[in-house]
Amino acid sequence: MSSDLIDPDISKAYTLPSRFYTDELVFKDIISDFAECWHFAAHESQLVKDNVLPLEHMESLIGEPMVLTRDDEIRCLSNVCTHRGMLIATESCTASTLKCGYHGRTFGLDGCFRNMPEFEGVKGFPSPADDLSSFNLKRWKGLLFTGKTPFRFNDCLEELQARIGWMPIESFEHDSSRHRSYDIDANWALYVDNYLEGFHIPYVHGDLHGELDYGSYRTELFEGGVLQVGIARGDESCFDLPESSTDYGQSIAAYYYWLFPGLMLNFYPWGLSVNLVIPLSVNKTRIVYHGFVWDRSKLGEGAGGDLDKVEAEDQDIVESTHRGVGSGIYDRGRYSPTRETGVHHFHRMLTS
Ligand code: FES
Ligand SMILES: [Fe+2]
Repeated sequence: MSSDLIDPDISKAYTLPSRFYTDELVFKDIISDFAECWHFAAHESQLVKDNVLPLEHMESLIGEPMVLTRDDEIRCLSNVCTHRGMLIATESCTASTLKCGYHGRTFGLDGCFRNMPEFEGVKGFPSPADDLSSFNLKRWKGLLFTGKTPFRFNDCLEELQARIGWMPIESFEHDSSRHRSYDIDANWALYVDNYLEGFHIPYVHGDLHGELDYGSYRTELFEGGVLQVGIARGDESCFDLPESSTDYGQSIAAYYYWLFPGLMLNFYPWGLSVNLVIPLSVNKTRIVYHGFVWDRSKLGEGAGGDLDKVEAEDQDIVESTHRGVGSGIYDRGRYSPTRETGVHHFHRMLTS
């Protein structure tokens, strides 16, 4: 795709042409690049009670069924049985082996073939091809990332480490009551566009607008992602920042990180809300929420207080926008140079 489709100068640029949101072939072309990206797999606290965790979202994102296993270490394995291709783990569980439910082939938690009924006399069996393949796993402060042939992660984690590395993210605890999964009638990139600007907050999110100081809302761009910093209005809930933080002295209510293509890491004083944007088709998207709690006493407060309400407000807007960009009249618009730098950055990434 043409790299100058989106002018690098935001004051001259036009937004993404509507075919990026509506055309099946353009969609498939964009999604095919996801195999080269790192994706959020899980937080380690999701592997405390259970030690086998299938990653259904990875199948939607890159067409690859994967499963996390934990024994003395955490691994990301293919979740496809090497016999006739059945999916092995279908839900999270505690187990000492992986056993295929189709004909009973068994693997160790390291992916090595262990046992197969009725295979006596099969020549050259078992061979290394009967083991489960493993995938790269990257680990940062309890967050696990994986991919098929990932190379595009650039300096994202260094960026996060420098800014919020002071938070004890590895000790945050998974709270399954905060899990959500929504299927929306909109293209995934419209959901990301909407996330990447706080411009709409006064118009769309009345309550959230009361928590945040709109005038001080900041957007910072970096290679591979965008950070939005929400400043608390008055004495609304904010982080107790250590002196080592570059933001020390400010009343920060939220750090909203987006990492290409569809990972949102929203840090609030109560902990972390992870949002995964999972394209299902050109006009259907799944949004998955996982919550990891740091300080339970701060749940329900401030900018991260009522995420369900904010999410419902965003989904309404994004679904309506999807209908709008399907119009034969609309093709593209212009950007606000002060409020839409994140959206512009995303569109540049999508078209480069
Ligand atoms: S497909 Fe797994 S044992 Fe047959
Ligand atoms: Fe919003």
